[in-house]
Amino acid sequence: MQLHKLRVLGLGFAMVLAWLIALSVVPIANAGGPNDAPPLAQAENDLCLACHSNRNLTVKLPSGETLSLFTDAAAFNASVHGKQGQRCTACHSNISGYPHPPIAARDVRDFSLQMYTLCRQFHDDQYQKTFDSAHAKELAAGNRNAPVCTDCHTSHYTTKPNQPRARISQTCQKCHSAIYDQYKESIHGSALINEANRDVPTCEECHGVHNIGDPRTTQYRLKSPEICARCHTDKNLMKKYNISTNVLNSYVADFHGTTVELFEKQSPDHATNKAVCYDCHGIHNIKKIDDPKSTVFRENLLKTCQQCHPDATPNFPASWLSHYDASPDHFPAMYYVNLFYVILIPVTIGGMLAYIALDIARRVLNRAQKPGGS
Ligand code: HEC
Ligand code: HEC
Ligand code: HEC
Ligand code: HEC
Ligand code: HEC
Ligand code: HEC
Ligand code: HEC
Ligand code: HEC
Repeated sequence: MQLHKLRVLGLGFAMVLAWLIALSVVPIANAGGPNDAPPLAQAENDLCLACHSNRNLTVKLPSGETLSLFTDAAAFNASVHGKQGQRCTACHSNISGYPHPPIAARDVRDFSLQMYTLCRQFHDDQYQKTFDSAHAKELAAGNRNAPVCTDCHTSHYTTKPNQPRARISQTCQKCHSAIYDQYKESIHGSALINEANRDVPTCEECHGVHNIGDPRTTQYRLKSPEICARCHTDKNLMKKYNISTNVLNSYVADFHGTTVELFEKQSPDHATNKAVCYDCHGIHNIKKIDDPKSTVFRENLLKTCQQCHPDATPNFPASWLSHYDASPDHFPAMYYVNLFYVILIPVTIGGMLAYIALDIARRVLNRAQKPGGS
């Protein structure tokens, strides 16, 4: 250990010397060039890489864990930051040569939890957004597995997080693999992953990425129909897939939705026991309605209702309109009964009004025809 330190110190001394020479030479060599920043950065970075491109360079932390100090120069140069010509010291602003300031971390995770704060220098927006997130709360509560910037973006090899778009969901897969496995089989996830479909939701459309909230709160449950409705009431979008956009209106017109949308939203502290979209359709496992695995497929529907209507019998779902307005195709009996009333009521009321109008006219005429007066 002692010997290793001495060797590194010796190397450090040589590097600092090389550094001073490089710094005095490189700017002159580049003077007047149109892009002088990147080559200069490269020359500076090469000084760090003189030690850190060594695959075997490691340090032992107090916990006994080994931290690798290797940085892959080619992968760094291919990253978003490498392409911008960033210097190592742009992020590592506390390091200007060797020896470095001492490491304060006890173990490898501790090291990451201290270092990710470096990102704030450049990305204060995203940094602030994460403050109230469910992940930050987990972290504050002592769950060290909750993600920080570098878990999702890496520290040195950051590439565009949304290219291809499926990558957004794959970022979450690392820690939420059971949910990802359900999602990739769902109508939304399979379209994203297998067909690069841009219309379906990634994890982000329902949860966010930096400001992820707790999805099991009453507020989230009550506003969840709006998350689905954002796409499912978009006529242009749904026309492509021949999917009805009447699903929200019919939901709100139905007893479950009427209660949730018109009454319970006014007092969002009360939990709702009425069905929201995902109670019937599933969450991460939503399927096409004619898929036998769908929770709303004919044969499975009774079981879905029985979650909350334990006494429901097979004709229970059949007596329910689902998302349909009654029509000659769907629920014809109800349609014709409705139609009957639609005709009967105006005819009855119209007849009555006509009767009253005629009666008044008769009386006025009678009075006008009465002879004499004052
Ligand atoms: C002479 C070799 C050498 C050079 C040059 C060098 N490092 Fe290091 N670096 C080390 C060694 C050895 C460690 C292990 C911890 C220690 O000894 O301080 C280390 C640790 C680190 C760490 C880990 C934690 C910390 O904060 O100490 C970072 C980050 C780091 N170096 C960045 C850089 C950057 C950036 C440069 C260029 C500006 C650079 N290093 C130049 C040898 C070097
Ligand atoms: C975009 C900001 C950024 C740039 C640019 C950057 N680093 Fe880092 N570096 C970090 C962060 C963040 C960590 C902490 C990673 C972790 O959690 O382990 C880190 C960690 C390190 C470590 C400790 C070992 C490790 O990988 O965790 C070394 C060594 C290091 N950097 C060297 C370099 C060198 C050499 C360069 C330039 C080629 C460089 N860094 C450029 C942000 C950066
Ligand atoms: C749970 C994973 C995760 C964490 C943690 C995370 N990000 Fe992101 N970040 C993403 C994903 C996924 C995207 C792509 C979002 C998109 O394009 O719609 C992204 C996008 C970005 C972007 C591109 C611009 C933007 O806002 O879309 C920046 C910059 C960024 N993140 C910085 C950060 C910083 C800084 C932190 C730490 C404070 C952080 N991220 C933490 C997953 C994460
Ligand atoms: C590095 C690991 C990691 C990554 C990556 C990650 N998460 Fe998490 N996430 C966690 C941990 C740990 C929890 C705490 C609860 C648990 O253990 O499941 C959590 C909790 C959650 C919760 C529930 C919050 C709650 O209060 O119960 C949601 C929602 C969530 N994550 C969504 C995402 C999404 C979306 C992504 C991708 C953009 C993502 N996570 C990426 C580790 C991660
Ligand atoms: C169509 C919207 C939607 C999409 C897409 C979606 N979720 Fe969710 N997610 C929800 C809803 C709604 C809940 C709340 C479920 C509940 O009440 O238990 C939830 C709950 C969660 C939870 C916490 C509860 C649990 O089951 O552990 C995590 C973690 C989570 N989602 C992660 C993800 C990840 C990762 C992805 C992408 C692979 C994703 N979600 C995609 C809507 C969605
Ligand atoms: C009480 C259960 C229930 C609730 C709540 C519910 N649905 Fe449905 N949904 C169904 C059933 C059952 C079907 C299938 C009807 C059929 O077989 O023709 C369906 C069909 C659909 C379809 C397919 C329509 C088509 O044209 O093929 C979509 C999309 C849909 N629902 C979205 C939603 C959305 C969005 C919500 C919330 C606003 C919601 N559902 C609430 C039970 C429900
Ligand atoms: C970002 C837009 C978006 C969001 C948010 C979204 N969906 Fe979808 N959904 C789609 C698209 C697009 C399709 C058609 C995909 C295909 O067929 O390839 C679809 C398909 C469906 C289907 C299958 C309909 C059929 O063809 O049988 C159901 C059911 C469904 N979604 C329900 C929901 C529910 C419930 C929610 C909320 C929890 C939701 N969706 C949120 C875009 C969205
Ligand atoms: C998440 C729970 C939940 C699910 C799933 C659910 N319901 Fe309900 N439903 C309720 C609640 C709660 C009421 C209000 C009961 C009351 O006020 O007595 C209700 C009321 C009803 C009513 C009004 C008549 C009555 O019994 O009060 C009908 C009809 C109904 N649901 C049909 C269905 C059908 C059909 C399904 C399956 C496709 C279904 N529900 C799924 C929770 C649910």
